Amino acid sequence: TRTQVAIVGAGPAGLLLSVLLQREGIDSVVIETRTRDEIEATVRAGVLEQNTVDLLKEAGLGDRLVREGAVHHGIHLRFDRRTRRIDLSALTGGRSITLYAQHEVIKDLVAARVRSGQPIAFGVRDVHLRDLETEAPTVRYRAAEGNEATIACDFVAGCDGYHGVSRTSIPARSRVEHSRAYPFGWFGILVEAPLASEELIYARHDRGFALVSTRSPSLQRLYFQCEPGDSVEAWPDARVWDELHTRLETDDGWTFREGRITQKNIVAMRSFVCETMRHGRLFLAGDAAHIVPPTGAKGLNLAVADVRLLSAAIAAHYATGDDAGLDRYAAEALARVWRCEHFSWWMTSMLHRFPGEDSFHRHLQLSQLDYLTRSKAAATALAENYVGLPWDWTN
Ligand code: FAD
Ligand code: DHB
Repeated sequence: TRTQVAIVGAGPAGLLLSVLLQREGIDSVVIETRTRDEIEATVRAGVLEQNTVDLLKEAGLGDRLVREGAVHHGIHLRFDRRTRRIDLSALTGGRSITLYAQHEVIKDLVAARVRSGQPIAFGVRDVHLRDLETEAPTVRYRAAEGNEATIACDFVAGCDGYHGVSRTSIPARSRVEHSRAYPFGWFGILVEAPLASEELIYARHDRGFALVSTRSPSLQRLYFQCEPGDSVEAWPDARVWDELHTRLETDDGWTFREGRITQKNIVAMRSFVCETMRHGRLFLAGDAAHIVPPTGAKGLNLAVADVRLLSAAIAAHYATGDDAGLDRYAAEALARVWRCEHFSWWMTSMLHRFPGEDSFHRHLQLSQLDYLTRSKAAATALAENYVGLPWDWTN
């Protein structure tokens, strides 16, 4: 097969890139190791920034998002048994976030891709990227049907997540990796229950972090900090509820309804940045190039920001032969990546219990949270990062 852009990975980054390129009249082939059913059923993120929502709408992907997504104008910080609201919209000139599950975004993107009639191959194996330093790179793989296939292309978009092959196709001497592991994980549950709170609650407790989020009026998403090597089996429902009630307890009698837990999973916590995001004709986007811990919900939104830049740069290449956007891509994407790395690390540090932390550390966390909820300047810094800095903030 011959195409303009070979897209490796059908996560949010790869699928959205395919849709944005198609709107510019640029052909692509998407390959994905998992099946369509698997990618449409994997529960991950849920918070879309204002930027992400605007872009999805512009790309014609807003119908179900607008109908089924819930717009939130604030979040709550809970600490010391009290709750204080951060008014995101008032602090950011009216910007907001939308709660809409990542796998719903995936369903909308896959549907758009299939409608376009352009190729997408699921269940592929043995993916290899070749000749990336030339103007005629290739992607080889074994198709689900078992036959060997080769895509000849002008560009390769490495959108295959943290465990993909794209990043490691950049020779080790040409990349620098920066990372941080955290001494905890997140235990996530999906619960059939009414809304526990109109807005998200980020809670700091001496036993560890907890987060109240939602998926719909009848399906709730809750998380709590757990041991890094914890297992789902170690947490029968009764223990989960006990821990959540303890960590979310307040002095004003706030409580929430339990329900049937339909899913439990554990998310590892890691910060990671690959410098660079380009090697010859290979461009990395999303988790293939960077990981943030989930506190602050930046992972999916960063993937979207990357492909917005990349699609515009590729479009300019074909429209006018101007490669300035491609040459700037890595530096421009990394500026936002590092801002989100800092924000996610900061939110994580402020809200989690660290093994061996002392009373000094505990008081620093509490003072920081208190300051955020008393100072408009401090609250604004949180709010503008949380809703997402405008596309052009680095200009
Ligand atoms: P991915 O979504 O990882 O997509 C990459 C795709 O490439 C996958 O479908 C994969 O199967 C495919 N692939 C892998 N290797 C190959 C290959 N060799 N060839 C072809 N295809 C390949 N963020 C939040 O903000 N909040 C959360 O609660 C949250 N929870 C998460 C839970 C988990 C378990 C994980 C892994 C991530 C979570 N994230 C969360 C982060 C967020 O989901 C990611 O940042 C987002 O999915 C990034 O999109 P992406 O397209 O870059 O990568
Ligand atoms: C969700 C995930 C996050 O990482 C976060 O900070 C807030 C909400 C969620 O899955 O709903």
